[in-house]
Amino acid sequence: MNRISELFNITYPIIQGGMVWCSGWKLASAVSNAGGLGLIGAGSMHPEVLREHIRKCKDATDKPFGVNVPLMYPEIETIMNILIDEEVKIVFTSAGNPKAWTKHLQEKGIKVAHVVSSSKFAVKCEEAGVDAIVAEGFEAGGHNGREETTTLCLIPAVRKATSLPLIAAGGIGTGEAMLATFALGAEGVQIGTRFALTKESSAHESFKRLCLSLNEGDTKLLLKKLAPTRLVKGGFTTAVEEAEARGASAEELRALLGKGRAKKGIFEGNLEEGELEIGQVAALFKEEQSVSEVIAEIMTDFNKKTKELSGMSFI
Ligand SMILES: Cc1cc2nc3c(=O)[nH]c(=O)nc-3n(C[C@H](O)[C@H](O)[C@H](O)COP(=O)(O)O)c2cc1C
Repeated sequence: MNRISELFNITYPIIQGGMVWCSGWKLASAVSNAGGLGLIGAGSMHPEVLREHIRKCKDATDKPFGVNVPLMYPEIETIMNILIDEEVKIVFTSAGNPKAWTKHLQEKGIKVAHVVSSSKFAVKCEEAGVDAIVAEGFEAGGHNGREETTTLCLIPAVRKATSLPLIAAGGIGTGEAMLATFALGAEGVQIGTRFALTKESSAHESFKRLCLSLNEGDTKLLLKKLAPTRLVKGGFTTAVEEAEARGASAEELRALLGKGRAKKGIFEGNLEEGELEIGQVAALFKEEQSVSEVIAEIMTDFNKKTKELSGMSFI
């Protein structure tokens, strides 16, 4: 047990990050049933779709689960009311100011964690009174910090800046990586990429297959003038790279991006025109596994490596 497993009442301090077009009730309930904390990703759901996913998740697991809400969501009030109405117990907020909703949710008995990419924002989380912080490094899939701080540099900085329970994210896909972040001061991990590529993820099979064939260097952080996003190189990303190389403005990039590209790429499997969000760590995995296999493997390797290193000293 540690502060994160106690806070969320879970067996393993492994959180499955909320992910647009990947993390519906199926993925979230599978992670919770395997002893971690599953999060439904509200970012790609209309409010009533979210309600349906929450209800299905409750039917599929009697273990704790939560919902991830990117705070720039257009119908944020409706979403928050649904969470309260459906008695969701855990909410992970991201992409916005933690002060906006934390107190309101906590007053309804909800535990709140917020995602940051710098120690400056970790301090804002502490001021907002969140229950836990997720610190996400530059390696991560999806939207990312502008400063490009890697997990290895971010976690110790955030650990120093706050005494709150700390969850590390970005580039963590194995038990060894989990242990490394614990050595830096984390007490839990949030994993996105590896879970996005499991059998229970709702991502399209073509997207999963492409991501499982990637090598080092096959993803890139782009769209920094809008919202920095880590994408698979090639296809639509080439057009973004070219536009950025000639100094395209935020407006031009917005026009190029248009609407619905993440859905097209991740959910519909259109690898040429879609926005393909995935993390650097995808390069380590070649096989589509089930969630229970992934969690069992991570915890076995974490415990094995902890033992192996425990006797190490250089005197
Ligand atoms: C396809 C994809 C979609 C994502 N969507 C969201 C999202 O909707 N909200 C959010 O807070 N983070 C999102 N993320 C970030 C994850 O929740 C998680 O923090 C991140 O993936 C961790 O790094 P990793 O990819 O190296 O495991 C997304 C990541 C991926 C790969």
